[in-house]
Amino acid sequence: MLILGIETSCDETAAAVVKDGKVVLSNTIVSSLKEHAKFGGIIPEVASRRQLQYISAVVQKSCTEAKVKLGQIDAIAVTSHPGLIGSLLVGKSFARALSYDTGKPLIDIDHIHAHIYANWLHRPDEAPKEVTLPAIGLVVSGGHTSLYHVKSFKHFQLIGQTRDDAAGEAFDKVAKVLGLGYPGGPVIEKAALKVTAPQLKFKCADIPESYDFSFSGIKTGVLYHHRDNSHCSTYDTNEVAYAFQDSVVDALINKACMACEELKINTLLIGGGVAANKTFREKLDAAAKSKGIKYFFPEMKYCTDNAAMIAGLAYQVK
Ligand code: KG4
Ligand code: ZN
Repeated sequence: MLILGIETSCDETAAAVVKDGKVVLSNTIVSSLKEHAKFGGIIPEVASRRQLQYISAVVQKSCTEAKVKLGQIDAIAVTSHPGLIGSLLVGKSFARALSYDTGKPLIDIDHIHAHIYANWLHRPDEAPKEVTLPAIGLVVSGGHTSLYHVKSFKHFQLIGQTRDDAAGEAFDKVAKVLGLGYPGGPVIEKAALKVTAPQLKFKCADIPESYDFSFSGIKTGVLYHHRDNSHCSTYDTNEVAYAFQDSVVDALINKACMACEELKINTLLIGGGVAANKTFREKLDAAAKSKGIKYFFPEMKYCTDNAAMIAGLAYQVK
């Protein structure tokens, strides 16, 4: 079965063709991220105007790369929520029109659930991933930090989430404070890599007896530290980046592992843009191994927003 996926929840315009829910035949993404960089965040009006401009060509390119004609597609899947309303409207309207025109069914998909589903995707020349359910799913993106008990592809139970900023959002805001650029995740990671003898420490707020997260406190902590110390000759933004990243990564790993242990589930699935962070991957590797938890990260290109995860999950819930 061939499903065409369409994803326009944030700055990207993406389309993909996925076979039988897992085999990615094409994965086309155009982003307007560079246009937003100078503002330090996404400007929704700019994002949706670009999406309107790109969507038709992106869908056509995706079909061409997959070597399929629209008539061969069995269903159309689209991100229905959550996301920027203008951006979602572009994708949903386009998908609906395509569905009406071709007579193919339209499947609405939750963007956050799809980030977890990205763990099942693979290329045609790769073996299928041995990922099983039930699992704990952790999505860490620019807009969400959510922990799920994934019972089946149709049953994602939300067990924890951020009470304020998303982890990726905190990366973006801290990078802005430190003058490192946008998006914050990759630039903070790069700055942190330059630190050889870390001394500084920050701490994320811990919400006891809960799977919820909080990242606004550490963000403010960095802001005050920068305000009070950046004039000193010994001040090093790389060290601040390192300490911030370390603390956020620890908070994410602690809650995810706690959920696995308490709910007695030994599979952990990660998804979302922050999952591209190498320190996160290394620290999770150590923590999970010591607790006997099997963990999975999607391939880098399926961590950030893409339409293959939308088409893939649609096959499972159709
Ligand atoms: O999932 P995503 O592509 O889009 C949303 O749905 O939000 O996530 C984007 C977020 C941004 O906040 C970005 O700073 C963060 O993911 N990010 C990273 C890294 N790469 C992207 N955060 C930490 N380390 C990275 N290497
Ligand atoms: Zn996302």
